[in-house]
This record gives sequence, structure tokens and C-alpha cells, in this order.
Amino acid sequence: MLGLKLPTDPRWADLAGKSIEEILTDHAYCEQKATSTAISLIQNYPEYEWLIEALTPLVVEEWGHFKLVLEQLKKRGLKLGKQRKDEYVNQLYKFLRHGGSRADSLVEKLLFSALIEARSCERFKVFSKGVDDKELAQFYKNLMVSEAGHYRMFLDMACDLGGKEKVLARWDEWLEYEAGVMRSIDVRGDRIH
Ligand SMILES: [Fe+2]
Ligand SMILES: [Fe+2]
Repeated sequence: MLGLKLPTDPRWADLAGKSIEEILTDHAYCEQKATSTAISLIQNYPEYEWLIEALTPLVVEEWGHFKLVLEQLKKRGLKLGKQRKDEYVNQLYKFLRHGGSRADSLVEKLLFSALIEARSCERFKVFSKGVDDKELAQFYKNLMVSEAGHYRMFLDMACDLGGKEKVLARWDEWLEYEAGVMRSIDVRGDRIH
């Protein structure tokens, strides 16, 4: 359903389950970045009313996720650590196509966001199945559902704006590229991607 071309390495959930403080810290910053990205789309494309309508509640939801992750840390007597360099997202940035109309550049950004949502969703699913902590398993299952909805929303908005056929062809290129990025990044338990 997500279309990802490379499933998560099965070793990842095991590693992540052994470094809960690090994985929750990294996850918290993923939610912060999702929030920040949605805010910057609102700032940069105010002419698209439908975008503002869709992203305003998303900002609240993603920031709510940040808060929920903080609560999971606190419950376990763990602390939010420092933000790391996000290799995955930095690599994806490089694939953003520049030039063209404002609509073209927005389509690219929507696909970029859709992809991060899709991969996050897949990772949450893998982690919810692999982690021993029952509460965390349920927590990640709930978030997986939410991020799947965001993936769909970003992809649908891109298709509506740029035309389905053209956008899905470009989406396929994004998926190919993302699989290459995943392959190039070490499997580490202290990060979501
Ligand atoms: Fe989220
Ligand atoms: Fe999301």
C-alpha cells in the first residue's frame, strides 16, 4: 500500500529495541521536523487555500505526536537527547527538483513529505511488531495509522495539483531513489530512518 521499494532491514527493530532512549529522541525530532515542514509549506504557499486547510490541523497533530513521544520518554525515566544530523532526510533533499512553476515545486515538496511519511509509517509498523515493550508496541501501532493517513494526504494533494499520471510517474522515481538512499545508510538502532 505504501509502494516502498525496499523493506526495512529486519535487524533494525532489534537494534532499536535495545536503544529506547535514542530511538525515542530521534523519533521526537522526526515529529518536530514534520511540524516545521508543514509550517514552512504554509508560509511559502499561502495562495493555495486547500493546502492551508489541510496543513493547519496537521501541524497540531504532528506537534501532538512530539508531545506523546516526550511522555513515553518521561514515563521510562529517560530524557530527550540532542538532535542528530539526519542523513536520510538530507539525502532525500538532494532529489528535490528545482525550477519550473510554483505548482511544480510544491508538487515536489508534497512528494518529499509523502515519502518520509510512508517510510515512517513502515518503520513504526516494523517496530510495533518487534518491540518487547507492550505499551510501546501499541503506541507505534497507533502512530502508524496516523502517518499512513498523512502519506495518503500528501500524495493525493500532489496528484490533484500536478495531474495524477504525471505525478505518479515522478512518484515512482522518488520511490526508486529512496530505496537507494535506504540501501546506502547503515542500519542503526538509534534512529527512525
Ligand atoms: Fe507524526
Ligand atoms: Fe505525519
